[in-house]
Amino acid sequence: MDAVSTRPLDWRADFPAIPEGWAYLDSAATAQKPKAVIDAITRGYAETYATVHRGVYQRSADMTLAFEASRARVARFLGAASAEEIVFVRGATEGINLVAQSWGRDHLGPGDRVLLSTLEHHSNIVPWQLAGAQIDVVPLTADHRVDLDAMAAMIRPEHKLVALAHVSNVLGSVLDAKRAAEIAHSVGAKLLLDGCQAVPRMPVDVQALDCDFYVFSGHKLYGPTGIGVLWGRAELLEAMPPWQGGGAMIDKVTFEKTTFLPPPARFEPGTPHVVGVIGLHAAIDYVDGIGLDAIAAHEAALVQAARDALSATNSVRLFGPEDSAGIVSFAVEGVHPHDIGTILDESQVAIRAGHHCAQPLMAALGVDATARASFGVYNGQDDVDALVRGIERVTRIFG
Ligand SMILES: Cc1ncc(COP(=O)(O)O)c(C=O)c1O
Repeated sequence: MDAVSTRPLDWRADFPAIPEGWAYLDSAATAQKPKAVIDAITRGYAETYATVHRGVYQRSADMTLAFEASRARVARFLGAASAEEIVFVRGATEGINLVAQSWGRDHLGPGDRVLLSTLEHHSNIVPWQLAGAQIDVVPLTADHRVDLDAMAAMIRPEHKLVALAHVSNVLGSVLDAKRAAEIAHSVGAKLLLDGCQAVPRMPVDVQALDCDFYVFSGHKLYGPTGIGVLWGRAELLEAMPPWQGGGAMIDKVTFEKTTFLPPPARFEPGTPHVVGVIGLHAAIDYVDGIGLDAIAAHEAALVQAARDALSATNSVRLFGPEDSAGIVSFAVEGVHPHDIGTILDESQVAIRAGHHCAQPLMAALGVDATARASFGVYNGQDDVDALVRGIERVTRIFG
């Protein structure tokens, strides 16, 4: 299969931290970094480093231009209406907490409810609990997608917000986000999409999806850790109060009263992760250079190959739908996923084993943990083969 076996090996050469013979199958946790991103980060510290927004000297003005150019690049990448709709945060976790604390302060009062789904990551559950919201949970279909028919039947005007993973980090299920938006908007609720696992593996256009907030983490998109994005509709961000205070987000401060800058600055207190933002720009250029459609097709072929091969082993149970995006979760009968992970590691295959920060989903699946292989642009059929050989070894060892 050409698309799986040859082209990715070209892309793999872009990733210096992937040695020959190592099957890295944990991109859903964090993606390896291409040289283009590493170089951009190195240049950011070794050649062009300065703070942003404050300096009166040329270096800082140049860095500010580069920083804001990255914001414009993110806006284009997500199909946002303007760069002002892009808030830089530490990651998806911080983005969701920002919405829960800021938007939630004005919109989640007593009696108001938030609608989540069974497959959410803890970072799309706990912030809503901390915000004091009453939570309802949309169940999954038999093939492990968010059950939008059930959601349509459950939703009511008390639901002020629906927050769903665009792609599940455990199951790879892809949400029909447009339909979710229609259902949410039918009662006037806002839709927040957790795009952590979507942006690295499919084209995303927030306006076409008709959502209201979208978050993702740079490190899963082949970019640096410590930088992420919250996109929000301009009118929503403009109406939201700050959630953290400090420098860089104020208009005027006295001991009596402070006034605040408009978004996105209102939500970016303190010195930002300047070089992280520069690295994120390089990461987006990198994935767009390959093309998100090409990445989606490449990962779909790998998922298909992995699911076909693993399902041929009797003792393997696969989770998630057939058309999972880039992620395959599975169990081997009688073997704890941690043992699977440890044995695979002996064969140079790196997978994730555990609850994947989705304990309610584990409970719904009736397991404590799963083994999870997740793909990136650098994976090929050789990695799938290594995974399958490793699982054969696991079943031999455990009889
Ligand atoms: C679906 C999903 N949401 C949220 C997160 C949290 O991302 P981060 O830890 O980068 O903030 C993750 C990371 O595993 C994820 O996969």
